[in-house]
Amino acid sequence: MSRYRTLRKNKAIRSLVRETRVHSDDLIQPFFVIEGRNKREAIASMPGIYRFSTDLLLKEIAKYIKLGGRAGLLFGLPKVKDSLARQAYSESGIVQKAIVQIKKNFPNFLLITDVCLCAYTNHGHCGILDGDRIDNDKTLPLLAQMALSHAHAGADIVAPSDMMDFRVAAIREALEDNHFQETAILSYAVKYASAYYGPFREAADSMPSFGDRKSYQMDYANSREALKEARQDVCEGSDMVMVKPALAYLDIISLLRRKLDVPVVAYNVSGEYAMVKAAAQKKWINEQEIVLENLTAMKRSGADIIISYHTQEILPWLTKSKNVR
Ligand code: PBG
Ligand code: ZN
Repeated sequence: MSRYRTLRKNKAIRSLVRETRVHSDDLIQPFFVIEGRNKREAIASMPGIYRFSTDLLLKEIAKYIKLGGRAGLLFGLPKVKDSLARQAYSESGIVQKAIVQIKKNFPNFLLITDVCLCAYTNHGHCGILDGDRIDNDKTLPLLAQMALSHAHAGADIVAPSDMMDFRVAAIREALEDNHFQETAILSYAVKYASAYYGPFREAADSMPSFGDRKSYQMDYANSREALKEARQDVCEGSDMVMVKPALAYLDIISLLRRKLDVPVVAYNVSGEYAMVKAAAQKKWINEQEIVLENLTAMKRSGADIIISYHTQEILPWLTKSKNVR
């Protein structure tokens, strides 16, 4: 028998025996980029998150780096959308142009880009349509082209989020064939069809104009399928695998961490962020404590890396070591 309170006696001892820590090295902040100059648009359902034109985004990233930020996940909003999502893989697309500028100004900043067509198609689905169906195999070359254009512009990691089958293989092959052997792939391997993406779809203007994403994103009732998806993505050439959303899916994060030997990434998505922000604005919860508790739980369940909209705000809390409680 033990007296467990001995190791809880004071802050120093709790810190000493703490098993899990949230560290700035493990965090990734998402950014949204839009066309134009001197633009900063608020996103109503995501307080503190904005869409920036590239000039202002560079200033944001400079601030973020000063706080200790190391990595960002970039999403773009194109000026035109069409049925083939042409702006998604255009050399002069919004993301491609932004990557060049970001890498020119911050060569050591780790730049990850989301690879998916939904913000670029006029119907808001993640793939090319055949009638009302999303055509998996017609979508693959476009995703490969999109990933390749990001790599060409200077992205370090491409992150396909579309949930088409075999897209990792298609992207890996395109990268290999074009001498981008060093570009990493972080697949959204286990991406559930989730109501938690609501605020993001406002931010990225990517709401499907009909139907839903359930024919390509996973059913949240399934966990065995998560392992199959993740294993296959690793076989196809994914360097890391993501679980998304995070908080309601800690069992899945834990499963992948135990069964696979690649880094596991948790995406603390827009709806999770919005719920915390809304309750904090009403002063119903202590935001700082809740955020650190949530992110620590993700790490405890097995996440090696976390993508979170809270990142830029919590970096100062981490350096002040307030997460040692
Ligand atoms: C695009 C994409 C989405 C998210 C990341 N990439 C939205 C979706 O699948 O509808 C969600 C991110 C978030 O909610 O924070 N496919
Ligand atoms: Zn999509």
